[in-house]
Amino acid sequence: MTGKNPFGLSDGMKEQLAAELLARHARKKEKKKANARLPKKPVRKSLSGRNDGIPDEFCRFDKFPNYEEIRVIESGGKQLGIKSPFFKTHDQSAGATTQIAGQEYINFASYNYLDLCGHPQVNQAAKDAIDRYGTSASASRMVSGERAIQQELERSLADLYEVDDCVAFVSGHATNVTTIGYLFEKPDLILHDALVHNSILQGIQLSGARRMSFAHNDWEALETLLEQHRKDFERVLIVVEGIYSMDGDFPDLPEFVRIKRQHKAFLMVDEAHSLGVMGATGKGIREHFGVAGKDVDIWMGTMSKTLSGCGGYIAGEQALVHHLRISAPGFLYSVGMSPTLAAAANESLKLMLAEPERVKQLQANGKRFVGLCQQVGIDTGVAPGFAVIPAILGGSARAGMVANQMFDRGINVQPIFYPAVEEGMARLRFFISSAHTEEQLRYTVDALSEILAAKK
Ligand SMILES: Cc1ncc(COP(=O)(O)O)c(C=O)c1O
Repeated sequence: MTGKNPFGLSDGMKEQLAAELLARHARKKEKKKANARLPKKPVRKSLSGRNDGIPDEFCRFDKFPNYEEIRVIESGGKQLGIKSPFFKTHDQSAGATTQIAGQEYINFASYNYLDLCGHPQVNQAAKDAIDRYGTSASASRMVSGERAIQQELERSLADLYEVDDCVAFVSGHATNVTTIGYLFEKPDLILHDALVHNSILQGIQLSGARRMSFAHNDWEALETLLEQHRKDFERVLIVVEGIYSMDGDFPDLPEFVRIKRQHKAFLMVDEAHSLGVMGATGKGIREHFGVAGKDVDIWMGTMSKTLSGCGGYIAGEQALVHHLRISAPGFLYSVGMSPTLAAAANESLKLMLAEPERVKQLQANGKRFVGLCQQVGIDTGVAPGFAVIPAILGGSARAGMVANQMFDRGINVQPIFYPAVEEGMARLRFFISSAHTEEQLRYTVDALSEILAAKK
């Protein structure tokens, strides 16, 4: 544990206290929510015509309930002497190792899966793009026009999936929000895995379509929902991820393809964490299962992980991609992808395909890490060892404290708390890189095992 221990509490007592704080706050929030459902008192108008009696919570930023919740957690952590593990400043590009405040750490907190971010060829491609185009596309592509590098990246991604076309957006999160939010609407139904990413949920909310979730990776539950409800809706979209970002596992894609065909639904797969990670040459979940690109209707992915850039993409048939390019608000009313980042992503994709040994090494590292954890009884949940590996610890406070202790031992790994995962399922989330050495992996598992043993 770092920092002072102002109350002389043991780690266990701190965890209990923090859990109680969280629970108390959750109860308060529930009560507030229930009260909010009651009809509001009418706002009284004063003689001067100005509205009186407007509560602070409706006119002050510090009274927003979510912000109040953040403040409770932050000040609880501070009082208990738990340093915030977030927003650390890295001195350089972060791969298997990183430097923070002049100190070197083994790093598990970056999506640099194939060690391509910071690669000299990727950097050079980005620099060349700056020399040619400057740093910004300076307006929406429809208005300001195209840059050849944006088109080259989209063509490469379409070829990778063996589909008609691809369109790139400036943010991975916005790609999901705008694509789902724009394409689907009220008479439609969207069925999603219970553990999908926030960007998918936000897109569904924006769409106005009816939303139903099925238990994680449970295609039989999905099938049951479709049997019950398909006929009541117009279009139906099923959304799954290639690799789940909190648990590191993946769906049985061929079953989902079969089901979507049978029920005339669209299937969308978010490959944020599976591109570069699954399949013999990193082509993602479809290569892993030997599924044809055209078997999935909407391939989504991000440029911020394996491709060492920033942005998202949608690949699929012409009618889908052309439609989004002409009308999706997050494309049409947003600036075109920066040529610099398009060049970095394009070069990363070339390197991924040219050097499949990176993918092999990443997969071997993931398997090794899971195996080492299991040998010492660390709970990695259902993760098979594909780049994202959780160490499930229990309460949020515990995860925060263990992350700080790992940091003190020269290991940078992020804790994941409620509400990103259920309370009681807080964890350290390890992002594995192809560049991690066996020694680094062993040192990390030993350190975690020792810390957890000392806490028992
Ligand atoms: C599954 C998934 N989809 C979408 C996103 C959003 O991508 P980005 O961070 O590139 O905006 C993420 C982010 O990590 C993710 O995990």
